[in-house]
Amino acid sequence: MNPVDIITQKRDGGVLSRQEIEFFVRGVTDGTIPDYQAAAWLMAVYFCGMSDQETTDLTLAMAASGEQLSLHDTLPGAVIVDKHSSGGVGDKTTLAVGPIVAACGLPVGKMSGRGLSFSGGTIDKLESISGWTAELTDAHFRRQLGEIGLVIAAQTANLAPADKILYALRDVTGTVPSLPLIAASIMSKKLAAGADAIVLDVKCGRGSFMETLAAAQALARRMVAIGQLAGRRVTALITQMEQPLGLAVGNALEVQEAIATLHGQGPADFQELVEQVAGEMLLIAGAAPDLASALRQVRASIADGRALAKLRALVAAQGGDATQVDHPERLPTAPVRRVLPAPADGFVHAIDARTVGLVTVGLGGGRLRKEDRIDPAVGVLLAAKIGVRVKAGEALCTVHAANEAAAAQAAERLLAAYVIADAPALAPAIVLDRITEPGHGPL
Ligand code: URA
Repeated sequence: MNPVDIITQKRDGGVLSRQEIEFFVRGVTDGTIPDYQAAAWLMAVYFCGMSDQETTDLTLAMAASGEQLSLHDTLPGAVIVDKHSSGGVGDKTTLAVGPIVAACGLPVGKMSGRGLSFSGGTIDKLESISGWTAELTDAHFRRQLGEIGLVIAAQTANLAPADKILYALRDVTGTVPSLPLIAASIMSKKLAAGADAIVLDVKCGRGSFMETLAAAQALARRMVAIGQLAGRRVTALITQMEQPLGLAVGNALEVQEAIATLHGQGPADFQELVEQVAGEMLLIAGAAPDLASALRQVRASIADGRALAKLRALVAAQGGDATQVDHPERLPTAPVRRVLPAPADGFVHAIDARTVGLVTVGLGGGRLRKEDRIDPAVGVLLAAKIGVRVKAGEALCTVHAANEAAAAQAAERLLAAYVIADAPALAPAIVLDRITEPGHGPL
């Protein structure tokens, strides 16, 4: 076997065998296949797709490319439950869901990612808290999981290392929005991290990698099928990502919004999504007999402050300044704030989430190159979302920027992201579908 044959076979629309996929993934992992060949192969997959069988083979090969964790020796008898989002704009769900689920008594030992293209990453967001670190040793991870029942860490070098390499290449080669590549990336990490039960939040719309409901459903079914093949319980929610989630986009702004949500004061769409995802996690782990009682547990953990206390404990255990949880105004703030006024009276019909995500990256809130440093303070705080009636001159959003020039450029781009019209518009539903059965069909 050689890499060039495997690339050309995929380029020409061929189907790769399990052995060929394993050979390629091994080569990417041990460096015998260089970045340029891996990137060419990713582009061939992007254009030609993969069959269900190829996608499953790719996932299992990537999961097996490094260490496969088991947390059962740390937590004997516990159901290890995990969640993963397919990536979106303003998606700070893990920051609130992790503490809630842990407060309800289920251990959450989670590996999270950094930003990818226009979508933000949980680790980048939490790093807005001074001192907080995602780089934990295996011993620290397990001790913290045992002691407080909640860990959010960066993917260790040896967990699905093939994904780590391919993820970074995809981010800078225009090959992120590919169903088989997203399915294999997400599920390889979840399988390797040892979760027994997984809730997937598959985003759908302009601010995600799956723009149509049909594409999001296909991705969700494929991931549910892969999970079941590997003996894991998986539920997927398909959720709205046409407009940004919640009001805050940008790292420190999103941490503030997650804290507000743990006080029960999050924006309606985000509060609902957090409660639904947390409820599904309790349900799939067998900690509640049905969704209604799972949701009661979730809301009780918010109302009596247990969920917020878990976030405080997580921050402190990972070296962060826990006083920022109680005083979110002490999180980094941008020197320039510029309000974008509505150009006319009307109802907000659309806010292009992708533009808001890209504007935030442009302000310094995400990366254009692998080595870029993130500015935690910058971003966009929405004032009006879809369905809201605005008068000319009222705020649509506020840009948080490092300087006036960046703020002006961002405001101009954001104006084009809004559609305002005379006719009333309805706020869209946040959860669009729920998938628990595997589906079949080519990706
Ligand atoms: N999240 C991942 O982990 N991988 C992807 O490819 C997309 C979102």
